[in-house]
Amino acid sequence: MNDKNNVFIFDTTMRDGEQSPGASMSLEEKIQIARIFDELGIDIIEAGFPIASPGDFEAVTAISKILKNAIPCGLSRASKKDIDACHQALKAAPRFRIHTFISTSPLHMKHKLNKTPEQVLDAIKESVTYARNLTDDVEWSCEDGTRTDMDYMCKSVELAISCGAKTINIPDTVGYTIPSEFTKIITTLKNKVPNIDKAILSVHCHNDLGLAVANSLAGVSAGVRQVECTINGIGERAGNAALEEIVMAIRTRNDLMPYTTGIKTELLSKASKIVSNATFPVQFNKAIVGKNAFAHEAGIHQDGMLKNRETYEIMTPESVGVKKTSLVMGKHSGRHAFKEKLNDLGYTDVTDDVIQSAFGKFKILADKKKHVYDDDIAALTDESMVLDKYVINLKSLKVFAGTGEPQKAEMTLDVYGEIKSTSETGDGPVDAIFKCIKVLYPHDVKLLLYQVHAVTEGTDAQATVSVRIEENGKTTVGQSADTDTLVASANAYLSALNKMIIKRKKTAPIEHETDKMKGI
Ligand code: KIV
Ligand code: ZN
Repeated sequence: MNDKNNVFIFDTTMRDGEQSPGASMSLEEKIQIARIFDELGIDIIEAGFPIASPGDFEAVTAISKILKNAIPCGLSRASKKDIDACHQALKAAPRFRIHTFISTSPLHMKHKLNKTPEQVLDAIKESVTYARNLTDDVEWSCEDGTRTDMDYMCKSVELAISCGAKTINIPDTVGYTIPSEFTKIITTLKNKVPNIDKAILSVHCHNDLGLAVANSLAGVSAGVRQVECTINGIGERAGNAALEEIVMAIRTRNDLMPYTTGIKTELLSKASKIVSNATFPVQFNKAIVGKNAFAHEAGIHQDGMLKNRETYEIMTPESVGVKKTSLVMGKHSGRHAFKEKLNDLGYTDVTDDVIQSAFGKFKILADKKKHVYDDDIAALTDESMVLDKYVINLKSLKVFAGTGEPQKAEMTLDVYGEIKSTSETGDGPVDAIFKCIKVLYPHDVKLLLYQVHAVTEGTDAQATVSVRIEENGKTTVGQSADTDTLVASANAYLSALNKMIIKRKKTAPIEHETDKMKGI
């Protein structure tokens, strides 16, 4: 950890990542994510923005109690109320970090904060000093850093360090900078801030121009030793720098970037899956963790690969935890083999109930489908892991579709233990299904997204359906996989709805600001 070439990985999937539209995660999902992040080797986990909502406060508190290696962190504005909320949420952890920030660009100071540069300097002094009295691990960020006047940035960084900040983070809040400019900013700070050696420099890059990873790596090459990033690159607007891309770029091009991270790269694929299950699907061609990242389609490439993998492969799929899709499981496979398979796929901490439920689903699937692939098993296990929390469950579904007649769905649901049935027509079968759910459990949510994609190949492939809904500004995402797209559609909608019901139940442990302020 003290090695001068070690780069600390600071993950903000559960804070900045959650600010992506549709990426809100339940407490259970955040705990599952925190556990895999801890195992993955992430150094610091920003678990939320405790003052922002009861949900964030609760998540930061819960995560602070379970981390074994990573340091939990909470975000706060330059206000005592925010910093106190962070402290309350984090204090159960043996070590924790308070991350406080304020804007320093002329644009933000004038129009967002309505403060003079001198008033902002006062706020930096007050907030960092206050946080430092609660922990010796304080990080300070100059929001909109890359549009900040360089002399003013140097002055504020020097002040934050003199008040006790141990990490100085330079955010490219609006994804505006380019690598050469970012190199210059970091070099200037290193040359001009007299106490810069008392702190670790950090970068936090957004991806509005698709440069977040390139800018982060430019920062590292210029001397930064902490990178803030998210799994799958999720985050506000176009997202944050993707953790898996930064880590694998450093590992693959170690000849040009001779740095180390503590990340166990073989767990990247699993972490990506867990995050995408809780948020939204990863695009197929996404670097490192996309479904196609290691697929070779063109004949000429396949031929080269057969002769020598290195012709077209700069890193092995195994190095990020991608195992070759195998066909070993079929309808004659027993429970023991199934358990072994789950272990191989990285499901090492699932309960017996989940295994039981996933095995039942696997048997049904193996009867319907010729080949059961690893991805199929992962999809049905992921689903089993959340089902016991749901209060509305699908019992049966029949759909009448095709030309001529209006499409009709007949549905039976278990709603809080009561069995209810209805039959509805709709503008297409999916509309009819969603109408049945609305009749059986009256509710008023807005459907923001309905997306279908295949888990594996072939016409008998399982379809994964993602549904995103919104209620009073809160969004949830549900996903479900089935060989029958319409059954997957019903279950995905029910999953989103169940998550919304769980979200509604949350109560406020302290006085919170609204979720709207998360748009920082
Ligand atoms: O993008 C940003 O500026 C942020 C800060 C709060 C670090 O997320
Ligand atoms: Zn950000």
